[in-house]
Amino acid sequence: MDLYHPSESFVDRANVKPGEPYEALIAKASADPEAFWSDLAESELHWFRKWDKVLDESEAPFYKWFTGATTNMSYNCLDRHCKTWRKNRAAIVWEGEPGDQRTLTYQELLRAVERFAAVLKAQGFRAGDRAILYMPMVPELPVAMLACARLGITHSVVFAGFSAEALKTRILDLDAGLVVTADGGWRRGNIVPLKQAVDDALGDCPGVRSVIVYRRTGNEVEMTPGRDAWWHDLEADVTAGCPAERLDAEHPLYVLYTSGTTGKPKGIVHSTGGYQLQVSMAMRWVFDIKDEDTYWCAADVGWVTGHSYIVYGPLLVGTTTVMYEGAPDFPEPDRFWSLVDKYKVNVFYTSPTAIRAFIKFGTEYPERHDLSSLRLLGSVGEPINPSAWEWYHSVIGGGRCPIVDTWWQTETGSIMISPLPGVTALKPGSGTFPLPGIAADVVDLEGNSVAPGGEGYLVVRKPWPSMFRTLWGDPERFRETYWSQIPGIYFVGDAARKDEDGYFWVLGRVDDVMNVSGHRMSTAELESTLVRHAAVAEAAVVGMPDELTGQAVIAFVTPIQGNDPTDELAAELREWVAQQIGKFARPKQIRFSDALPKTRSGKIMRRLLREIVTTHKVSGDITTLEDLSVVNRLAAQQDED
Ligand code: WTA
Repeated sequence: MDLYHPSESFVDRANVKPGEPYEALIAKASADPEAFWSDLAESELHWFRKWDKVLDESEAPFYKWFTGATTNMSYNCLDRHCKTWRKNRAAIVWEGEPGDQRTLTYQELLRAVERFAAVLKAQGFRAGDRAILYMPMVPELPVAMLACARLGITHSVVFAGFSAEALKTRILDLDAGLVVTADGGWRRGNIVPLKQAVDDALGDCPGVRSVIVYRRTGNEVEMTPGRDAWWHDLEADVTAGCPAERLDAEHPLYVLYTSGTTGKPKGIVHSTGGYQLQVSMAMRWVFDIKDEDTYWCAADVGWVTGHSYIVYGPLLVGTTTVMYEGAPDFPEPDRFWSLVDKYKVNVFYTSPTAIRAFIKFGTEYPERHDLSSLRLLGSVGEPINPSAWEWYHSVIGGGRCPIVDTWWQTETGSIMISPLPGVTALKPGSGTFPLPGIAADVVDLEGNSVAPGGEGYLVVRKPWPSMFRTLWGDPERFRETYWSQIPGIYFVGDAARKDEDGYFWVLGRVDDVMNVSGHRMSTAELESTLVRHAAVAEAAVVGMPDELTGQAVIAFVTPIQGNDPTDELAAELREWVAQQIGKFARPKQIRFSDALPKTRSGKIMRRLLREIVTTHKVSGDITTLEDLSVVNRLAAQQDED
């Protein structure tokens, strides 16, 4: 396989250079990880009070970092930079889908955050409270996040593509007292009615005492007196100035819900001190950020990628972060490239699904624009197939930009496995090596490292600063899901291979979690949603390989007697899922069957369904199957498709 080396000019300017500097970094990280991280914490961030202990393992797996220290994320992202030349640098360069534009300097962003923090304070919210942020991709979303962080209000951003039902589940689980939203957001020329969804959700959420509404789209909304208020009205009533609270390093910064193997989403809890350290380091090591860079992560703030690499990471290191509100193909499939050209983006980070969609649109769209400002590209969310990698490298990167294929998870908070762009020789499709200080490995079920060339389970052997601290309200599930498969070692849930040169290749999930367009989806959550529909007796959901989205959701459904398996019912069920979870979760196909393959003890054999949708036949062990004819019928149905 061809190796891709960085150019000499890239290496010359790289933040981490090959040879001795890189080796020294790795050596220090492995010899004494605590000294390694604490030295970086000291040079990289502001602490109001220094820590007593770098890593507290006394209640493992509930690890704590920088105990005794006080700090503030909002202070590190804003106030600190405003004491330097950076105060007049662009912090956020934003473009709305209709083409409107805004730029906020660090100074302006700080003022906006202080103002909104003052609003929250005036409403009586304070450290320890929880806020749900259900917002479009406008600068006020980072403003709200940073205002919460400033006061120690733990925020939970709910992706604006989630339905009212999904929003309600999260508000209730978190027992949030505040919801910040907007009248709507723009998506493919249409208004997404966010306030309407909040109203639908809040009927069952008596704990919410305040809803703050930002005016974005100007559509009519209903305001409930005593509960709802406009963002701009509340701001008019406060005087500026709101200092950052001195918060414990372990203070929960945010909770972000992600899919697990059961029907109930998991609230991933991130803390402050360790998280801000590791995302800062990733900006320097992986994205190689320079003072003059314009950086664009084209994800959504509703997912962890947006938290760490649109908002917190870029602002911590004082760079300019580009934010775009809408769809990549609106009004035409060249929107991303027009933005790269217009804002002279230097570092660009996106997902393999987006890249595959661009390949399908054709090279004429990137060719319309000057992409020569780009010097570094990134990929995240799912394994990138080598042909998509090659296209990204040559068509978008002009053959001159290294690609950092970054592996990480909502749980890890920050990038864990990735090339260092000035150091690592790249292999298309491989995330290459763990970052300095990250003890990732590929092991068998006893925890033994696999030999070179072997496959196994991806794990992290030692705690890392940006690790999640627990699951909201469910510490037992935290221990059980992640720390008990191989006792004491973090079990990722991905399969991986280490090749003869030690390169890591992440192969995909080992549990019943699917990855559709880089979004994690739980089979159990989809199944329990489908069986809640009045016409459904049973449902089993599997992922089918899909050229564009990586995996696509296929739902096998047994209707309740008296409901005909019609196209109308299939359409209704797809709509039901959209309404209950969100449009992005809608199954690609509904396949009706009068029975599902089950073991004699009544468990649905998803493995067989998976085989049917991937290989069109069943080859594995079916000795525990109760009724073989079911499988034959399903396989025959597949052949007809
Ligand atoms: C997958 C997104 C291969 C993996 C940041 C992981 C990847 C899950 C990569 C986490 C990559 C993410 N190569 N697979 N570069 N990045 N994954 O929580 O299965 O939305 O466990 O976090 O996405 O998804 P999550």
